[in-house]
Amino acid sequence: MARLKKVAVNNKSISEIKSDLLVSGFFKGSSLSKGIKGMGDNMNVNVSNAISIDKFKGDKNKRVSVYSGGSVKRVLIQGLGDKNKLTSDNLRAVASNLSRYANEAKLKSIDIDGDSFNLSKAGYTQAFVEGLVLGSYEFLEYKSKVKNENSLTAISICGKVSKDDINKGFVLGHSVSLARDLGNHPPNIQTPTDLANTAKGIAKAKNMKATIIDVKDFEKMNFGSFYGVARGAKTPAKMIIVEYKGGNSKDQPFALVGKGLTFDSGGISIKPSPKMDEMKFDMCGSAVVLGVMKAVSELQPKMNIIFAVGATENMPDADAMRPGDIITAYNGKTIEVLNTDAEGRLVLADVLSYVADKYKPVGILDFATLTGAVLIALGDRASGIMSNSPEIVKEVQKASKNTGEKVWELPLWDEYSRDIKSKIADIKNLGNGRLAGTITAGAFLKEFVGDTPWCHFDIAGTAWGPKEPSYQPKSGATGVAVRLVYDLLENRLN
Ligand code: BES
Ligand code: MN
Ligand code: ZN
Repeated sequence: MARLKKVAVNNKSISEIKSDLLVSGFFKGSSLSKGIKGMGDNMNVNVSNAISIDKFKGDKNKRVSVYSGGSVKRVLIQGLGDKNKLTSDNLRAVASNLSRYANEAKLKSIDIDGDSFNLSKAGYTQAFVEGLVLGSYEFLEYKSKVKNENSLTAISICGKVSKDDINKGFVLGHSVSLARDLGNHPPNIQTPTDLANTAKGIAKAKNMKATIIDVKDFEKMNFGSFYGVARGAKTPAKMIIVEYKGGNSKDQPFALVGKGLTFDSGGISIKPSPKMDEMKFDMCGSAVVLGVMKAVSELQPKMNIIFAVGATENMPDADAMRPGDIITAYNGKTIEVLNTDAEGRLVLADVLSYVADKYKPVGILDFATLTGAVLIALGDRASGIMSNSPEIVKEVQKASKNTGEKVWELPLWDEYSRDIKSKIADIKNLGNGRLAGTITAGAFLKEFVGDTPWCHFDIAGTAWGPKEPSYQPKSGATGVAVRLVYDLLENRLN
C-alpha cells in the first residue's frame, strides 16, 4: 500500500507557510527560487550561505539541508541537474526519493516549492505526484507488528500547479500500488476467487459491470484450453470480465486481457524448487488489468473498455492435464499440450478468443508473465512486445516514451508460426526447443485474436525484480505497465 494519502495544493506563498520540511528544486547553474528568496526568519540568507559553503551547483541527486527555529524548520534544496536534460521520468524518480527521505525523517507532512521544480511544464506535475506516491509504497500486511505513527501521509504543493494533474498522478500512483499489492499477496491467500472479489469491488464504480464465469461452466462455454489448466487446481478458476461504458454506447470497446496465474507450479511438467515461490507473481498480467481498472473507475475517461482476466492455479493433481493431451480452445483450434508449464498461453487462448468474439473490440492489449526467455532477451529493463498491427505498436511506443516504462518489439514473422505447428493437432504449446521462446509464445497467442489489432506484453522480466529507477520498490512486484496503458487509453481520446 502507498502510505501517502493526500497531495494538496497550498495557495499560500512560501513566506507565509509553517512547515517541518520545505523542499525546493534547483537546476544546475540557476539561482534560488523566488519562494526561497522571499523567506523570512533569515532562512533566505542561511540557505544562500549553505549553498556557497557546500559549493552546491545544482547537480542531480545532490542536496543541501538548512535548519532554523522559525516557522519553516528545515529547507531541503534538491539538485535537479541541467534544466533541458531533465525528463519527466527523472522527476518521478526524484520525487520518490524525496518521499522516502521525508518518511525516514519521521515527518507526517511536508511542503513542496512547486515552481522551483518547473511543475507547470506538461506532464511534470503528474509524474512528480506519481513519484511521491510510489516512493511511499510499502507492503507490510503480513507483519504482525507494525509501528508507523510517524510516517509521511500528506504533502502540500505551493505554486502554479493544476489540481487535475495532481489528482491524475495521485490516482495513477495508487493504481500502480494496487497492482504491486496484488502481485505481492501470497498464493494461499490470494486465490482466483479473491482476484474476482477485488475486481467486483472496483466494478462497483459508475459505468462498470463485473461478470465472473466459474470453472464449472468452462466446458459448457467451450473454454477447453483454459479448462485444461484449471482442472488440476482445487481452488476454482475464474474468468473475470468487467465492462466499462464511459463512452458512446455505440462505440466498440478497447480490450485489456491479463494472465492471472495465482500460482504456477508447472503442473505435471513440474518446475524445479529453487525460486518456485516467485511463481506467486504469475498473476502480474492480471494486476496490470486490475490496476488500470482502478484508475479508470476513478478518472472515468469517456470511452468503452473491456477488462478480462483468466485466473487459476497451475497444479499437479490426479485430474491435472497431462503432457500429450489435446484440448480444444474457444475458437475451435485444437492444441497438443507438450508441456503443462506452458500454461499461460493456454489460459490466454480462451480469454483472447472469447473477448475478440463476444465484444468485437477495436484493439486488444494482453499482459502476461509468459516466458522466462524474455529475461534472457531483455533482462529486467524492458517488457517484450509482439503484435499483428504496426499502428498499435506505435501507440504503445508513444505511451512507453511518455511514461518511461520501456518496451522492445520482437518480430512475429510467419516462420515462427511454423514452429508451433503440431503433427496431430492444429498447434502445440511449445516452439522449437529453446529457440525464440518468447516469440513462439507470442506466435501462439496470435492464433486467438483473429483480425483484431493486438499487442502482447511479456512482462516476465519487469513485473518483479527491477530496482531502478528509484521509484521501483526495494523488493517485490513493480506494478509495471499500469501507467503506460492508462496513457495509451487517454491518447486514444484525442
Ligand atoms: N510463468 C512462467 C514464465 C516465467 C518463468 C516467468 C520464470 C518468470 C520467471 C510460464 O508459465 C512458464 O513456465 N513458461 C515456460 C515455457 C516453456 C515451458 C515453453 C518457461 O518460460 O520456461
Ligand atoms: Mn508455467
Ligand atoms: Zn506461468
